[in-house]
Amino acid sequence: MKFNIYIILSLLILLSACGKEDRTNFSKDKDLYDLLASKSPKGTLEGLMLAKGDRLSHIPQDPKNPLNSSKIQLGKLMFHETGLAIDPQNSISMNTYSCASCHHAEAGFQSGKRQGIGDGGEGFGISGEGRHRNSNYPTNKIDVQPIKSPTVLNSAYQKLMLWNGQFGATDKNIGTESNWAPGSPIANNYLGYEGVETQALAGFDVHRLGIKKDLLEDNTYKLLFENAFPDAPPQALITTQNIALAIAAYERSLLSNAAPYQKWLRGDENVMTTAQKNGMKLFFDKAQCYQCHNGPALNSNEFYALGMQDLEGSDIIEAAGADDAKLGRGGFTKLSQDMYKFKVPQLYNLRDAIFYGHGASFDNIAKVIQYKLEGKKENNSVPSTQLSHFFKKIDLTDTEIENLTDFITNSLYDASLSRYLPNSLPSGNCFPNNDSLSKKEICQ
Ligand code: HEC
Ligand code: HEC
Repeated sequence: MKFNIYIILSLLILLSACGKEDRTNFSKDKDLYDLLASKSPKGTLEGLMLAKGDRLSHIPQDPKNPLNSSKIQLGKLMFHETGLAIDPQNSISMNTYSCASCHHAEAGFQSGKRQGIGDGGEGFGISGEGRHRNSNYPTNKIDVQPIKSPTVLNSAYQKLMLWNGQFGATDKNIGTESNWAPGSPIANNYLGYEGVETQALAGFDVHRLGIKKDLLEDNTYKLLFENAFPDAPPQALITTQNIALAIAAYERSLLSNAAPYQKWLRGDENVMTTAQKNGMKLFFDKAQCYQCHNGPALNSNEFYALGMQDLEGSDIIEAAGADDAKLGRGGFTKLSQDMYKFKVPQLYNLRDAIFYGHGASFDNIAKVIQYKLEGKKENNSVPSTQLSHFFKKIDLTDTEIENLTDFITNSLYDASLSRYLPNSLPSGNCFPNNDSLSKKEICQ
């Protein structure tokens, strides 16, 4: 009898071991897999994996904006469609810019510049670095922001948008209603959407885009609208709201799931070098990065002050709202405990971006990491009492810093973001910009 129970138990143990993926039990990286699972917010490796994208139901979404493939396809075109640039401050910029002017794949869906330029900019260069002010535009007419353009990559994994998290009606913004000033872009929060959707609604106006009827009512676009929003009555089909929902759906589909680290999580142990694995181990252990950068996108919906510099310098065009922007989350909530705190950014495809921190004060990934490990603020206007407890000196050797930098630079790098770009636009326009200089640089 005892013997039988013993056999059954061993069989059960064996079966459960086979049922799990082999890597956790037999792989050479077992200790690393165990470490990461233990540090993941869900306590599992799955808690660190980005959705693959082949099954839309696996991508985090707003219940008020369910994903479908036509919506994503429509959003992809709307995000890049320079034909929507119909509300410029000067008619010379008509049809020349798009959302992607400041968030394009070549710069990891950031802008490629310390300060992105939409309306009133010209040129592109190779990855956006060549964009500059059109000299016919006075600086106060140009579409620029007082802070670095963050990426829209992996935005599905964030409930709130912008460095201060002001967009989004759910999560940490519940209770902030008194700051949703009627008439301001923030009032879009009253529609009740999550951040990605709310930002797209607000951004459409802020960035001087509009509904170009003849273009959108043409067959190609009309059919996409009908398939994306099958329940919308014809008179409520081609609306700013639906364009924004489609753009948000597209943004949610932008996942860096082909990065080596993501492949490693799914069991491919040979995609990362020993140095990179060591960097990963440091990230989730001694260097304490996981305390703030965690989950599939290595971000969080938390806000911290690291005392980084604001967007300043001779290359920066003065933009409205600069004083509030410097206050981070506090500029939105007006609460003293939130002052100078910024949202924890995701960490994929930074290599494409060139500038780091909300004020783009670093031009190299290793320098950001060294700054964090040093634990000394660079911005004197941030009171030390606001700084995060996690912002303190951590001793790593030069080799350890190199390994950590290698992990972030290369293992968190999806080399095929161009899969998210349209082949062409129904308008036939050049994108992400359509001014004559950009056309020469990108489209001829
Ligand atoms: C002039 C450049 C520019 C243009 C054009 C632009 N953006 Fe942005 N975008 C920014 C900047 C700068 C921020 C950060 C603003 C802040 O945090 O206060 C931002 C923030 C965002 C965010 C939040 C990301 C995050 O991690 O919080 C999303 C999403 C986004 N933009 C999408 C869009 C969409 C959609 C459009 C078109 C409707 C657009 N952007 C057009 C510059 C631009
Ligand atoms: C206390 C929470 C916290 C910890 C711990 C932390 N970070 Fe961050 N990290 C942030 C915040 C917040 C920002 C944005 C700060 C800003 O722009 O003012 C940031 C920004 C960054 C950036 C720049 C990203 C960009 O797009 O501009 C990198 C790179 C980075 N962190 C890497 C690391 C690494 C590596 C570690 C571990 C050594 C680490 N961080 C530890 C909160 C944290």
